[in-house]
Amino acid sequence: MNILLLGSGGRESALAWKLSQSPRCNNLYIAPGNGGTGAYGTNVKLSPLDFDAIRAFVADKSIDMIVVGNEDPLVAGIYDYFEADPVLVVGPSKAGAALEGSKDFAKRFMQRHGIPTAAYRSFTAETVEDGCEFLSTLKAPYVLKADGLAAGKGVLIINDIDEARSSLREMLGGMFGKSSATVVIEEFLSGIECSVFVLTDGNGSYRILPVAKDYKRIGEGDTGLNTGGMGAVSPVPFADAEFMRKVEERIIKPTVDGLKADGIVYRGFIFLGLINVGGEPMVIEYNVRMGDPETEVVMPRLASDLVDLVEAAAKGNLGSVPAEHDPRPAVTVMAVSEGYPGSYPKGRLIEGNLLPEGSIVFHAGTALDEAGRLVTSGGRVLAVTSLADTIEGAREKSYKALEKITFQGLYRRGDIGLDILEMMK
Ligand code: AMP
Ligand code: GLY
Repeated sequence: MNILLLGSGGRESALAWKLSQSPRCNNLYIAPGNGGTGAYGTNVKLSPLDFDAIRAFVADKSIDMIVVGNEDPLVAGIYDYFEADPVLVVGPSKAGAALEGSKDFAKRFMQRHGIPTAAYRSFTAETVEDGCEFLSTLKAPYVLKADGLAAGKGVLIINDIDEARSSLREMLGGMFGKSSATVVIEEFLSGIECSVFVLTDGNGSYRILPVAKDYKRIGEGDTGLNTGGMGAVSPVPFADAEFMRKVEERIIKPTVDGLKADGIVYRGFIFLGLINVGGEPMVIEYNVRMGDPETEVVMPRLASDLVDLVEAAAKGNLGSVPAEHDPRPAVTVMAVSEGYPGSYPKGRLIEGNLLPEGSIVFHAGTALDEAGRLVTSGGRVLAVTSLADTIEGAREKSYKALEKITFQGLYRRGDIGLDILEMMK
């Protein structure tokens, strides 16, 4: 089949890498792709949000299936746009995408279906005083979330109540534009987080993909500003059989069944951001796409054919299509531009061995300049993934491979996976 993949990050590199390995993939196009995705298919200059242009491209290239990497097209309704067209779209309808597009909607969904999550209330400019009062009923730290998409920056965790009150006022006053016109205030949960990925067909069937742990902060030891993610490890030792049984019974099944009961069409990936509170899983957030950099650590551990899986999900019939996991652990380390997650330079020449033996280098913020040289074009530049018999081994391979790659100002965290090794002692 002919496949169009939308997006341009490390996640899309990993999806393209995996899709292109399928014997069922004839032509793979990536729109817009990055400096590395050309190795798996053909990059196309199309915006993932220009649905009319995508429709023309789909007709021109006889595209059978669109795989959507990032959330924006899903939240904007790409599934619904193509509903009457013969092309398959892997993802939720616009109504389903609200699980990520509106935190208030997600919280109400969880409450309705008895899915464990932090207690919360939502406020708008009209109810700001109630919001300030509600804060005094909670214990510090205070968790304030912009309702809408805010490029991963819409969550504030604040220790001081006065600061929390003034941040609430600022958020409702437009700190994140329309995204923070509604603010969710919720109870702070303490525990370790992990990312669980599910592929569902909208008809009650689902497959659980390998579980991953993301490293969100810029600094070693989980310090400093939040980023999109600085590395990932899979599997996650605390997500053992007992924990996953709880996740499946209390979270995955009620989510999949709840979507169906609410009449919400959802044929794609569900990303459950979970927290382990004393052995009990709770939902921190839903995303309606795969994670980044989690995809870079999950795809190499998926032993089954991804084209078979996503096609079956998009057709509403996962049936008995398998999602086998490679038992070997994997570790992904991100190389980022100096200054990230603040402002950072672009156009720095990337040199070294980008095809190391035994590791995979997934491109994220890379581009080819006018002379065809590979240069940096984003904050997160490259994700290096390795599989090995142990997490230690996979870590070592990824860091060794990264040592052979350079660009001016390259930064990476040196402690990806160390906390997990410590936990396993
Ligand atoms: P979100 O965008 O909802 O995933 O929030 C971003 C990050 O904020 C999460 O990955 C958590 O680390 C943290 N966070 C969000 N909600 C809570 C909560 N209720 N308790 C503790 N930490 C939270
Ligand atoms: N790594 C977290 C995310 O993709 O949202």
